[in-house]
Amino acid sequence: MDLLRLVLCLTLVALVKTNEWCYTCDHHTPSHWAEINGSHCGEHHQSPIDIVTSIVTTDPKLDNFTFVNFSSQHSIRTITFNGHSVQCDMEDNEVEVSGGGLSGQYSVKQFHFHWSKDGSGSEHLVDDHRYTMEMHIVTEKKDVPGGDVLSHKDGIAVLGFFINATEENEMSEPWQMLTSYLENITGNNHTAELNHNISLSDLIGHVDLSRFYRYMGSLTTPMCDEAVVWTLFQEPIQVHKDLLQKFPEKTGLSFNYRPSQSLNGRKITASPATPLPEVHPWCYDDHHCDHTPDHWSELPNSNCGGDSQSPIDIDTQSATADEHLTSFNFINFDNNRAIKSITNTGHTVKCILEDGLVEVSGGGLEHVYSTLQFHFHWGTDAADSEGSEHTVDSHRYPMEMHIVNKRKDLTLEEAVQHSDGLAVLGFFIEAPGSSKSSSHSDTAGTEAPTSTESTGSNMEAWKKLTHYLSAIKNISSEVEVTEEIAIDDLLGNVNRESYFRYSGSLTTPLCNEAVIWTVFKETVKVDHDLMAMFPTNAGYHDVFRPRQSLHSRKVYTTAAATVPGPVLFSLLLSCLCVLFF
Ligand SMILES: *[C@@H]1O[C@H](CO)[C@@H](O)[C@H](O)[C@H]1NC(C)=O
Ligand SMILES: *[C@@H]1O[C@H](CO)[C@@H](O)[C@H](O)[C@H]1NC(C)=O
Ligand SMILES: *[C@@H]1O[C@H](CO)[C@@H](O)[C@H](O)[C@H]1NC(C)=O
Ligand SMILES: *[C@@H]1O[C@H](CO)[C@@H](O)[C@H](O)[C@H]1NC(C)=O
Ligand SMILES: *[C@@H]1O[C@H](CO)[C@@H](O)[C@H](O)[C@H]1NC(C)=O
Ligand SMILES: *[C@@H]1O[C@H](CO)[C@@H](O)[C@H](O)[C@H]1NC(C)=O
Ligand SMILES: [Zn+2]
Ligand SMILES: [Zn+2]
Repeated sequence: MDLLRLVLCLTLVALVKTNEWCYTCDHHTPSHWAEINGSHCGEHHQSPIDIVTSIVTTDPKLDNFTFVNFSSQHSIRTITFNGHSVQCDMEDNEVEVSGGGLSGQYSVKQFHFHWSKDGSGSEHLVDDHRYTMEMHIVTEKKDVPGGDVLSHKDGIAVLGFFINATEENEMSEPWQMLTSYLENITGNNHTAELNHNISLSDLIGHVDLSRFYRYMGSLTTPMCDEAVVWTLFQEPIQVHKDLLQKFPEKTGLSFNYRPSQSLNGRKITASPATPLPEVHPWCYDDHHCDHTPDHWSELPNSNCGGDSQSPIDIDTQSATADEHLTSFNFINFDNNRAIKSITNTGHTVKCILEDGLVEVSGGGLEHVYSTLQFHFHWGTDAADSEGSEHTVDSHRYPMEMHIVNKRKDLTLEEAVQHSDGLAVLGFFIEAPGSSKSSSHSDTAGTEAPTSTESTGSNMEAWKKLTHYLSAIKNISSEVEVTEEIAIDDLLGNVNRESYFRYSGSLTTPLCNEAVIWTVFKETVKVDHDLMAMFPTNAGYHDVFRPRQSLHSRKVYTTAAATVPGPVLFSLLLSCLCVLFF
C-alpha cells in the first residue's frame, strides 16, 4: 500500500470514529460513549464533575499562572463548527501558559465552547449550579517525548472558564465580534478565518485569574482520555445573553455538555486566593462538634428552627384519610444499573443514582420528580437498636431509608426554595419476623406470612449493597457500584400503596422546608447483621434527628388502606357510645 492510500485510509478511519458519537442523536449519546471502540469514557477519573466547594481544600502550591501572548491580537487563526462544538484554532507555538501548579510549559492549541439552549450548558457544576456556558482553552504539554500527550496524566491542561449570561446594556466588543462569525460557519466542518483583532485576554475580560479549582480528569468528549489536568476559574466571564444565545441558535446544536461524572475518590483543590465556604460542621452528638441538633438553627442560612420541620412522630389515630393519595409511578426502580456510586458522607451512607434515569410521579404528587439518591439513618449495632427518624405512635424502628427526589422542572437550587421542590420516600427497615410493627401496621394479623415472603426475595440485594460498606470506611470516600442492584430489589414486596403524607423539611442542615414526605407503613425486612454493618463500617452511630413539633400541620394517610385495628376499635366504641347515650 502506498503512503497516500495509507494516509487516506487513516483519515477515513478518523472521520468514521469522530462521527460515531453525539449529544442528542439516537445512538452513542454520552451514556453510550464507554461502548465506543478504544474509548476511555467508562474509566474512573472522568470529567466533567460537580465541584462541591465544601470538600475542596486549599493547596498553597497552586501559585499564579504565567500567561504568554494571551493578549496577542493575532493569535486566533480560525473558527470552525465541527458538529460538536464551535472551536477556534490558535497559531502554532505562539501562546503559552505555565505556573498555576502545572508541572511545565503548555502550548495553547485551541479553545471551544459548551452550551445549552435552555441557558444552563456548562460542563462542570459548582455546588450543583450549572452556568450558562463554559469555555475550554486546550493546551498541550511541551517537551513530551514524541508529542504523545495523551499517554501522560497531565499531558493536556485545560483552562475552563464559566460564562454567565448577563442582561447589561453594553455588549463586550470582543464577544460581539467572535459571535458574529457564528453566522458564517453553519453547516458541518465549516471554517472561517478570523480577521478581527481579538485576543484571549479580551475574551477572558475581568476574571480574577488567581482564583481557581484544580483536579485530575479526562477529555469530556470521546475518547475521554484521562490525560487532563483541569483548571476551573472561580469567577465567570460575563457575556450578554443575546450573544450567548447565538451558539445554539446558529449551530442548531441544542446542547453539548457531558453529564457530570463521579469523583471516585479524587481530590479537588483550590488556589489560596479562592474563597471557600466557611466550614460549619454539624453532627448528631455532642462529642463530635458544637452544632448538635439543638443548635442546627444557629448555622448560617439555617431553616432548622422553622415551623414545618422533619422528622415527626406520626400519630396514626389523628391521620386524615385522603383519597388523592393514589398509587405511585416508579420509573426505572427495576433498573439494576441505576446506582452509580456509594459514598460515606460522614453523616450517612448515600447511594448516588445515574443522572436523569429514575423517576417518581403519582402518589398524590403534582409533579414528576427525578430520583437523585437514597441514604440511611441508623442507631447502633445492638440487636435492639432504634435509629429511624420518623416514629409511628412513638415507636422508633431500627433503620430508615430515604429516597430523595427533586422536581424535574427545577434545578436543585430552585427546588430547595419551593415547598414541593423535593419529595422524599421514607421506608422503615427492621429485621424479618420483628413483631414490634404489628400494632401500628395495617397488615396486623397478616404480618408473619408477609415477612417470610419478603426475606428471601430482597436479601441478596442487601448483601450486595452492604458489601460495599467496607470500601467506604473513610469519610468522604466514594466507590463505583458495579454490582447489579435495583431499587425494587432493595424494597422487596413492601406495599407501596399504603403510606402517610405530610409537608416537612430536610432532616439535616440547612433543613429547607421543601419536602413532601411519604412514609410507608409496611417495613422493609433486612437481616440484623446486615443492618449492623452500617454503624460498624461507617464508624458513627445514632444518625437520626430528634422528633420535631407538628405545629399546625396535618398528617394524611392513604384512604384505600384498611383501617388499623385500634382505630377501628375506637370508632366502634364511639359508635356504641352514641347508641347508648
Ligand atoms: C509571542 O508572540 C510573538 C508574535 O506575536 C512571537 O514572536 C513570540 O515568539 C511569542 N512568544 C512566545 C513565547 O511564543
Ligand atoms: C450572573 O449574571 C447575573 C445577571 O447580570 C447576575 O445577577 C449574577 O450575579 C451573575 N452571577 C455570577 C455568578 O456572576
Ligand atoms: C460572513 O459572510 C458574509 C458573506 O459571505 C460576509 O459579508 C461577512 O463579512 C462575513 N462575516 C464575518 C464576520 O466574517
Ligand atoms: C488589526 O491590527 C492591525 C495592526 O495591529 C491593524 O493594522 C488592523 O487595522 C487591525 N484590524 C482591525 C479589524 O482592527
Ligand atoms: C497573584 O495574582 C493576584 C491577582 O492577579 C495578585 O493580587 C497577587 O498578588 C498575585 N500573587 C503573587 C504571589 O504574585
Ligand atoms: C483510608 O484512609 C487511610 C489513611 O488516610 C488510608 O491509608 C487508607 O488507604 C484509606 N482507605 C480507603 C479504603 O480508602
Ligand atoms: Zn470542552
Ligand atoms: Zn434522610
